[in-house]
Amino acid sequence: MPYPYQLKTLQAYKEAYQKSVEQPEEFWGDVASHFTWKRKWDKVLEWNFEQPDVKWFTGAKLNITENCLDRHLDTIGNTPAIIWESNDPEEHHRVLTYKELHFKVVQFANVLKNNGVKKGDRVCIYMGMIPELAIATLACARIGAIHSVIFGGFSAQAIADRLEDAKAEYIITCDGAYRGAKAIPLKDVVDDALIGNHTIKKVIVATRTRTPVSMIKGRDIWWEDEIKKVETHGNPDCPAEEMDAEDILFILYTSGSTGKPKGVVHTCAGYMVWTNYTFVNVFQYEPGQIHFCTADVGWITGHSYIVYGPLSAGATSLMFEGVPTWPDAGRFWQIIEKFKVNILYTAPTAIRSLMGFGLDFVNGSDLSSLKTLGSVGEPINEEAWHWFHKNIGKGNCPIVDTWWQTETGGVMISNLAGVTPAKPAHATLPLPGVQPCLLDENGALIEGNTVSGNLCIQFPWPGMIRTTYNDHERCRQTYFSTYKNFYFTGDGCLRDENGNYRITGRVDDVLNVSGHRIGTAEVENAINMHAGVVESAVVGYPHDIKGQGIYAYVIYDGSHGDAHLSRQDITHTVSRIIGPIAKPDKIQFVPGLPKTRSGKIMRRILRKIAEGDVSNLGDTSTLLDPGLVDIIKEGRI
Ligand code: PRX
Repeated sequence: MPYPYQLKTLQAYKEAYQKSVEQPEEFWGDVASHFTWKRKWDKVLEWNFEQPDVKWFTGAKLNITENCLDRHLDTIGNTPAIIWESNDPEEHHRVLTYKELHFKVVQFANVLKNNGVKKGDRVCIYMGMIPELAIATLACARIGAIHSVIFGGFSAQAIADRLEDAKAEYIITCDGAYRGAKAIPLKDVVDDALIGNHTIKKVIVATRTRTPVSMIKGRDIWWEDEIKKVETHGNPDCPAEEMDAEDILFILYTSGSTGKPKGVVHTCAGYMVWTNYTFVNVFQYEPGQIHFCTADVGWITGHSYIVYGPLSAGATSLMFEGVPTWPDAGRFWQIIEKFKVNILYTAPTAIRSLMGFGLDFVNGSDLSSLKTLGSVGEPINEEAWHWFHKNIGKGNCPIVDTWWQTETGGVMISNLAGVTPAKPAHATLPLPGVQPCLLDENGALIEGNTVSGNLCIQFPWPGMIRTTYNDHERCRQTYFSTYKNFYFTGDGCLRDENGNYRITGRVDDVLNVSGHRIGTAEVENAINMHAGVVESAVVGYPHDIKGQGIYAYVIYDGSHGDAHLSRQDITHTVSRIIGPIAKPDKIQFVPGLPKTRSGKIMRRILRKIAEGDVSNLGDTSTLLDPGLVDIIKEGRI
């Protein structure tokens, strides 16, 4: 499948970029003309950032699965669409060609229909990384149901909150999921999440671990049994639902600076064009290559660069069920050798963790198939960048440092592999269609180079967030109210002497732990649920592997047990309320929190203490009890 819009030279990038700014509608109209539409658009773009109200390809009708599956059948139908590698290296891998994936998606779409799922219904997907996860996702899209995938590491309470917010009516899950040495009982977690839930009508359970599960009559059904009911011997059919360009494709929950995760909404046409365009250009994908994105489909990276981007481009997408360090720290490298992977897209956390295991694991595998490396999710430090470049890419593979967010749908700022220059620890230049800018605290635009500020985007791009589900005002307030007429990313950023962007991290109360976004308020709420906790404050601190670690200051009512046990109890509580990813790395018991006279916690001070930078804590004279700071300093863990 040729990609006429793939930019092959620096000059082509520059021209495309310029055109995307000067004539955005012509630019995106040209790109979009290479997709399959049931009806062409009337207008490419209508927008204002005040409401916000952004519409791409208005009037167009399409179904994203026709673009990801049907249109490839005649040309590359027998090419692998998904290669699946098990958690267990001894278990045989699975290959689904485009024809086979199409067959399975259509079949499962019929299962959904048989069970009453209709266009616009919200379907929650809580599964391990097995092909059925991608099949379920695409089957929802086939019939116009709105999927909301929840990462398999989230707790029952976190699922319950998301189900309620989305008013989800169906859940697709597995009996359990394998992750390294563990088998996680997903269905049990779903059962807990459903206590007190009134919206869920059916739970479809796929078999993976064969752990015992309780199946509730009338509500819970097996994936495999339902497939038998729709099985036909010839080709099953399930016509692709005609979707409006701006119909919702999916909701994906993400953390912000308040305690409640928000349902980021992406719509059909813009998201499709954006994930495809960015996939083809950032990775410089060539037909036949094997693309290995190590993210989970439960995060936006998996949505965009395991499922929709690669499949809409007719690529072969490798999906891995397990973890990088099990059975040993050579797992990624063995997979690369086994399947002759060409593109490896992973997170700095994984790189830093694997660095620690030494080169013997790396050198045991033949990595010569690799052409391109990618990094996503958090700033990549120079040491990790160079290690990745030298030891994995053997000095020959460009690294794309891709900056983007759940809200942006796809990559926003990144070099294009081998086409535009890379610079260690810099995401570098914006993709065509992306107009970044830096603003200061007062909302003034910071012009010129060698400057820093808050990263904003001043013009719409096709893959951008449209709303937060059921709460448009929250979307406006979070992203479009800090700076009038700009989308505010929440990230701090530098622009170097050549106009390259370097993202420095969040400027709001959001942590980035191992590339996962976690709101400090969410963790505090969870800690405060523990009976012995009076109050808490959570901040981030630099962590060698995770990027950021979670440091919790807790006022604890000592009558509930000894300190060690209490720490364990608090950690357990957070695991229960959010999931293991949000567990604090350090918990310090404090007699009070440093507050101003108006009752506001001075997080700046807590952050400095957590970072170990206690020599200059700045002005503490406005604190209600300045003496507290010394006590907290002394008790630092
Ligand atoms: O702070 C930025 C960081 O991750 C945040 C977005 O998190 P999430 O929505 O979970 O999406 C992660 C995967 C796209 C951003 O606000 N971030 C993401 N990529 C980079 C990054 N920080 C620095 N460099 C990156 N390449």
